[in-house]
Amino acid sequence: MKLQNQHHRTIWVDEQNPEQVCTFDQRLFPFQIEILQLRTLEDAAFAIEDMQVRGAPLIGATAAYGLYLAGLAAVKTSNPSAFMSQAADRLRRTRPTAVDLFHCIQRVVQALQGKDDPNQIVQTALATAQAIADESAEQCRMIGVHGLPLIEAIAARKPGQVINVLTHCNAGWLACIDHGTATAPIYAAHDLGLPIHVWVDETRPRNQGGKITAFELLEHGVPHTIITDNAGGHLMQHGLVDLVIVGTDRTTRQGDAANKIGTYLKALAAKDNGVPFYVALPSSTLDLNIRDGVKEIPIETRSEDEVKYVWGWKDGQIQQVLTTPAASPAANYGFDVTPARLITGLITERGVCAASEEGILGLGF
Ligand code: MRU
Repeated sequence: MKLQNQHHRTIWVDEQNPEQVCTFDQRLFPFQIEILQLRTLEDAAFAIEDMQVRGAPLIGATAAYGLYLAGLAAVKTSNPSAFMSQAADRLRRTRPTAVDLFHCIQRVVQALQGKDDPNQIVQTALATAQAIADESAEQCRMIGVHGLPLIEAIAARKPGQVINVLTHCNAGWLACIDHGTATAPIYAAHDLGLPIHVWVDETRPRNQGGKITAFELLEHGVPHTIITDNAGGHLMQHGLVDLVIVGTDRTTRQGDAANKIGTYLKALAAKDNGVPFYVALPSSTLDLNIRDGVKEIPIETRSEDEVKYVWGWKDGQIQQVLTTPAASPAANYGFDVTPARLITGLITERGVCAASEEGILGLGF
């Protein structure tokens, strides 16, 4: 997608120095656009933990490239295999909810099985990371292809009128490699000239909606409005939302979907108001080993400071402000689970299906 009118992906190997991986420091959006150089396994692990990179597909790809960086160091040790195995464990501990992380690490680990030659370790890890990134970008593009008809159908029902889509958090191209998941159908509709407008949930506490989704929609010229997290129900009651599309960090065999905290409340409001609620996901986000998302998906808890402080732009720099009594405790659950019964459908790279085991397996996953 375009950033300052130039095509970018979110992660790439530095052309000048192939032993270095580049990405954007997402903690700085929308105020600063800074390229972050990852040079070591620890750089990659820290980037995921500290949310310099975030969003399920990008977390997965960063971990894969992290194993490439680990490979560069492993070949200088006496036991490269043991080093790589510890590197994989380090990356697995970074964030618990997005299953892409575990899938991508596993894929690199499997590709490295039986490879002892130092050159082979580095080349295999790199080739696998590149393949993961390429496939992820293509999956997101296809989510756009399959999601577009949903928006076209709404456009056909209200010709010439604005189509209002609500989204939560950032499931845009900055959360992925390119295109985004929830945003892929939105970009496809906008690029086709459909009059689309996006309600952007601010998404407390880290404000990925207000900061990152708004930023990327603005860069692409998509009309949008930032709303507080509590506004969606009101808008739906007044007929101002035609469709909800969100991303997901892990979707189970029966179609339960974990996504950023607050998604579940949007699904409840959508159900009550007859608004279609879709979850967009590449297959890297499916976890077919579990069924009951509420019981089985690990939910990340993060620092209470993320709730008590806000980060904003003042006097030419990013500053942090306390917004609560300093002594009050805060709880910071990162994700919630929307049960399949509240989901109208899943938009995948293979097509749209019901949020159910039959639907998911019916697409051949
Ligand atoms: O905590 P984050 O910013 O990594 O959470 C991101 C989300 O919840 C996204 O909606 C999800 O990863 C889907 S990204 C295409």
